[in-house]
Amino acid sequence: ADYGLDGFADYMRKEIGDQPEAMRRALLGRLDSRFSTAHLGGLRLDPRELRSIRRVKFLGCGSAYYAGQIGANLVEELARLPADAEPASEFRYRDPVVDPETLYVAVSQSGETADTLAAVQELTRKGGRVIGAVNVVGSAIARECGSGVFLHAGPEVSVASTKAVTNMSTCFAMLALLLGRVRDLSVADGRRIVAALDALPRRVEEVFETEEVVADAARRFAGARHMFFVGRVRGWPVAREGAQKLKEISYVHAEAYQAGELKHGPIALIDSGMPSVVIVPDDELLVKNIGTMEQIKARGGPVIAVTNATLPEGLADAELRVPRTEPELDPILFGIPLQLLAYHLATELGRDIDKPRNLAKSVTVE
Ligand code: G6P
Repeated sequence: ADYGLDGFADYMRKEIGDQPEAMRRALLGRLDSRFSTAHLGGLRLDPRELRSIRRVKFLGCGSAYYAGQIGANLVEELARLPADAEPASEFRYRDPVVDPETLYVAVSQSGETADTLAAVQELTRKGGRVIGAVNVVGSAIARECGSGVFLHAGPEVSVASTKAVTNMSTCFAMLALLLGRVRDLSVADGRRIVAALDALPRRVEEVFETEEVVADAARRFAGARHMFFVGRVRGWPVAREGAQKLKEISYVHAEAYQAGELKHGPIALIDSGMPSVVIVPDDELLVKNIGTMEQIKARGGPVIAVTNATLPEGLADAELRVPRTEPELDPILFGIPLQLLAYHLATELGRDIDKPRNLAKSVTVE
């Protein structure tokens, strides 16, 4: 179902611009500032059932899997429940141990991805508790799950997912908040997260004010054949999704790496022709990430820092600035400049943004 381009050159750029509104729709009626929690009625889980969950596992493919990884980090941070993400395409084939105390979350924009649907069917067959995090109402995965959280991103046409991914992690922040508030997350911390989520659409609008800087960096590095995307902990799934976006629409080889693992092998690839995009939130790992950038620079590698911190003068060759939010929510916001970077780099290379080769918007066959 295509809809108008509203004067944009392509759907991807239009949908990037849609994000503040899309995010407002996802948040609408779901934030509770009185009790500092979230309301996700579609989960159909009362507080006792919510408390009986001992573990959370996110399942999805491609960008939905990376968003699930952001979700897992949020659940661990805010609810202190063990959580992880796994590609649904792996889960479905490995005869998974289905644990009755785990909440499984099937993540999908289209709700039609064959691998994700098969993972859900495997779970229901084994009596697992599975909810959907789906954009398309009435889709196969939404129906099969029967309960969950709709993403409300609106129709997404561009193959490279932007607003759906942002709404996935936004919804997972609310899920983590809710799981936290039936456990040990304090009222004060709950309040801090509610206020930051409420303000997040405005922060996304502020990222757009830096678009010229991002486009300039894209032009400067458009000649690179390979790029690293580097992040640690909160920044790691952000780096993975950033690399994925670049690969999908520009065909530049992009590899995401955990910052701490760089020195255990891949650093051998660093030279002046191998730029690294480094995710540098102003959090407790800032010093570590500055160290990573120094290691890259010392080997002649150009550094594009994506940051809300004040960096040492001259360390980064380009700085993509991100507005401040609460540190737990940084991964949601840091994704936006990376979408713009991939977009402008692919535009610079003259790629067909909305119809990247070899890809389909939803993969309904194996
Ligand atoms: C396809 C698309 C990806 C997307 C993935 C999952 O491979 O090209 O962009 O992330 O499917 O799609 P879903 O609709 O399940 O989120």
